[in-house]
Amino acid sequence: MNTPKRKAVFLDRDGTIIEDRGYLKSRNEAVFFPDAVDALRRLSGDYLLFVVSNQNGIGKGLITAEDAAAVNSYIDGVLSGAGIKITEWYVCPHKREDGCSCMKPSPYFLEKAAADYDLDLSASWIIGDHPHDVETGARCGASGLYVLTGHGARHLGELPPDVPVFHDLTGAAEWICGGMGNGIPNICSVEDGGRILAGGGLVAFPTETVYGLGADVFNPAAVENIFRTKGRPFFDPLIAHVSDLKQMERLCRIIPEDARRLMERFWPGPLTIVLPKKPEVPDVVTGGNDTVAIRMPAHPTARRLISLAGTPIAAPSANAFGRTSPTTALHVVHQLGTKGYSIIDGGACRVGVESTVVSLAGGSPCLLRPGGIPLEQLEEVLGTVETAVKPVLKNLDSPGLLENHYAPKTPLYIVKSLPAENPDPATGMMVFGSPELKTAGPVEYLSRAGSAPEAAANLYAAMRRMDTLGLSRILTVLLPGEGLGRAVNDRIKKAAVKT
Ligand code: TXA
Ligand code: MG
Repeated sequence: MNTPKRKAVFLDRDGTIIEDRGYLKSRNEAVFFPDAVDALRRLSGDYLLFVVSNQNGIGKGLITAEDAAAVNSYIDGVLSGAGIKITEWYVCPHKREDGCSCMKPSPYFLEKAAADYDLDLSASWIIGDHPHDVETGARCGASGLYVLTGHGARHLGELPPDVPVFHDLTGAAEWICGGMGNGIPNICSVEDGGRILAGGGLVAFPTETVYGLGADVFNPAAVENIFRTKGRPFFDPLIAHVSDLKQMERLCRIIPEDARRLMERFWPGPLTIVLPKKPEVPDVVTGGNDTVAIRMPAHPTARRLISLAGTPIAAPSANAFGRTSPTTALHVVHQLGTKGYSIIDGGACRVGVESTVVSLAGGSPCLLRPGGIPLEQLEEVLGTVETAVKPVLKNLDSPGLLENHYAPKTPLYIVKSLPAENPDPATGMMVFGSPELKTAGPVEYLSRAGSAPEAAANLYAAMRRMDTLGLSRILTVLLPGEGLGRAVNDRIKKAAVKT
């Protein structure tokens, strides 16, 4: 009788297990991600673990093979002390010009491991913070998962849209060990989700911005259930999500030329366009306004779900009203519980802040909410866009501009600059860039490299992690007010304590 082949998880090292701090010469320079050991322990229960690392610093003469081996053996020591075995440490020492056969995305080491350890690569995984890690898996039949740590957020643009991404190794490990949905009882497939929506039920689903809680736009009773589940006031209107232009035509009376140009450039994607509505669109969706907000999400799962449902889907962010928006399926369940709706797990959201909302229903284009598409890019298409928010809604001056929104429970303070020394362990900091800090409290780096898109992708998950630590306060700074920085600052200001 044949023994079944074994399964493995291949791990990138820098940016995945330890922080990516350039070419590491000694063990002292290796800094573990805080969750890495626990995540690897979880994986080691069912999988052989291998590390596959490109160390082109060796080929470039910046570090030696011994330096790299010393760092590996330090990590190996920490892990084996925690009961975790790395079966092999594979290192490609070459630089790209060498044209070697072992540099990722070549699957050389994965195939070697498969031969040496009798692995089933089709039941195996590779996790890394660079698109080439995922590509390495794809070339040999293993599944690739992508983490937003290390360089992950920076290279997202190069990653195929259907690859699941995670905020950290823990998210990826949960995905692998629990199967999709990691033990959430109300989890469902996209196909089931489509049927549930068509039948008047609620489905939470991933989009590229945040998770949404959806219902059939044309089923007022179902849409009312969204408001009840979220505790959201009925006057705050919802965005109708579409998967194609036919669905859009069921919602709005006209599609002005400006809207067509925006759609052409930014759809599918994180842009919501407000237009005059058709009378068939129920009042409960639009808060009784004669306009409707429409968006075509870029996340392939979201579009597939909407298309299977066969109807536009009304969906606010899937959080309790006024609280931090969810960027993973677990975030949704932590806030909304598991009753009254089903949920599709699609990993972490790539953009991380909500869509930009622009109104073309009045005279000139008007920005109602900064979001995933920067104002500068809108203006490339529309010319000047008004940003002073006009009262466009019946009962609410400006959408999402309710004073306290997107808020953690721990008081969040915006400071001009973070204190270089903080002796208080109950003061957490959310940091942008990598300033020198001596602090007794926890730190979340929104983006060490000072990138606004990276900060956006990390923002809500970082707030949530901080919010679970029982701190007395969180300090943070604003980003430069351009590009995605505008949206991040908007959310930080709304989450902050008003003084
Ligand atoms: O990225 C997003 O937009 C996410 C995902 C799930 O698509 N959705 C989202 O929905 O953020 P929600 O409900 O949290 O925010 C929708 C915003 C609100 O600020 C609302 O006031 C505004 O859009 N809005 C909706 N309909 C509108 C309308 N007819 N006129 C003006 N603003 C509108
Ligand atoms: Mg890496």
